[in-house]
This record gives sequence, structure tokens and C-alpha cells, in this order.
Amino acid sequence: MDELTAHPISLPRIGEPAPEFTAVTTQGTINFPADYKGSWVILFSHPADFTPVCTSEFMTFAHMESQFAEAGCKLVGLSVDGLYSHIAWLRTIKEKIEYRGMKNIEVKFPLIEDITMEVARKYGMIQPGESNTKAVRAVFIIDPKGIIRTIIYYPLSLGRNFDELYRALIALKTADEFGIATPADWRPGDDVIISPAASCSSAQNRMEGKEEGLECKDWFFCTKKISKESVLSKVIKKS
Ligand code: BEZ
Repeated sequence: MDELTAHPISLPRIGEPAPEFTAVTTQGTINFPADYKGSWVILFSHPADFTPVCTSEFMTFAHMESQFAEAGCKLVGLSVDGLYSHIAWLRTIKEKIEYRGMKNIEVKFPLIEDITMEVARKYGMIQPGESNTKAVRAVFIIDPKGIIRTIIYYPLSLGRNFDELYRALIALKTADEFGIATPADWRPGDDVIISPAASCSSAQNRMEGKEEGLECKDWFFCTKKISKESVLSKVIKKS
């Protein structure tokens, strides 16, 4: 039996429950996603400890951890390295690495050891066209019910944009809170998109400007305003 048949790689899907696993991490054992029920969580993988792109990413994520926490989101990292490698790498980051004004950075969120690649395979993080031995840079945004809401994969050579991950989290929470969709490049304070007209009469009303508060570019493309304050007060915890 070949390797792929013996250990199939599955690709999780948006809208489905996050695959379950128990894992050892730098913060103790976790049961995922059960331990995170009631909270948003970003599960992400990186190719390897002690590598430069990953180090820049971990420092950035750790630097932004309180920002994600205020938005009700916890972070969990993973690579196919072992626990002692993780511990040594995180200690080196804190003690020695200074990058873009960040220094003395302590990674407080759990980093999963996955030497068997069991979790990485479940989450489609091993992509043989890119590497058989390293996880790609995968990101899963998972909601408080344990449902996968966003999946992003990056190759080994491309460091992630963490502002985009934060923007995606806030946009998902805003869509849930207000029952709307968010257009290209949306940020809090920008107009949001409402559901397309579901009947000919609604389409007609919208085109005649009879639905208050809407601005319609055409019958299927209507926006409305939600203030930045309104978005932030609903989706970000006040400390
Ligand atoms: C890095 O994080 O620098 C890296 C890791 C694996 C392959 C290429 C780059």
C-alpha cells in the first residue's frame, strides 16, 4: 500500500464541523475544537520551527494576540516538529529575535506538536506538490459552534498577511451579527451588502428607491450603511 493510501490527506470544507483531535501543545494537551466551543479560533500551520518566514509570522501573530482576543478569537499553531523543538524555538524568539520593532515576544498561544502528521493530514496541511515533510501555511477560521468558516492556504515561501486574517475575522463576525455580506476590501465603517431581492416586486421597489436606507446600483446589488462604531461595539469586546 502506498503512503497516500495508508494515510489519506483530507481537505476540510467551509461550513462543515472542524475535524476533531487531541494533541500535545506548548500549553498542555488540547481537545480540538471542544476546548474552544463558545469562542472563535484560528488554527494555523507553519512549515517548520527555526525558519525565518515562520519566525516573522509567529512574532506577528503573538504581537497581535491581544487584538484577536479582544475580538473573541483564540489562536492555535501547528507544525510537524516535536514539542522540544517548539519550546526551544519559542525561547529563542523571546530571548534573541528582534524584527520590525518587535522584541521580547512571548508566544502564549498553544503550538501543537504533530510529528505523526495526524492533525496536518486531517486538515489538508500536507500538500505533496509543495512538500511531503512540511505543512503548508494553512489558516482555518472556526466559529464558536466549531464550524469552519474560512480556509486559506499559502505556500511555503509566502508569509501571511495578518491584517487580512484579522479583517476576515471581523467581517465574518459582522456578517453573523447584522445578517449582511461584506464587499471587496471591506473594513468596518464601509457600506455592507444586503441579500439580493428575492422577488420581482422587491426588485422593482429597490430600483424605485422605496426600500429605505438602501443604495442600489442595480436590483441585485444594494448596500446599506453600518457605522464603524456600531460594528466595533458588536464584534469587539470592551475591556
Ligand atoms: C521559512 O519559514 O522561512 C520557510 C520554511 C520552509 C520553507 C521555506 C521557508
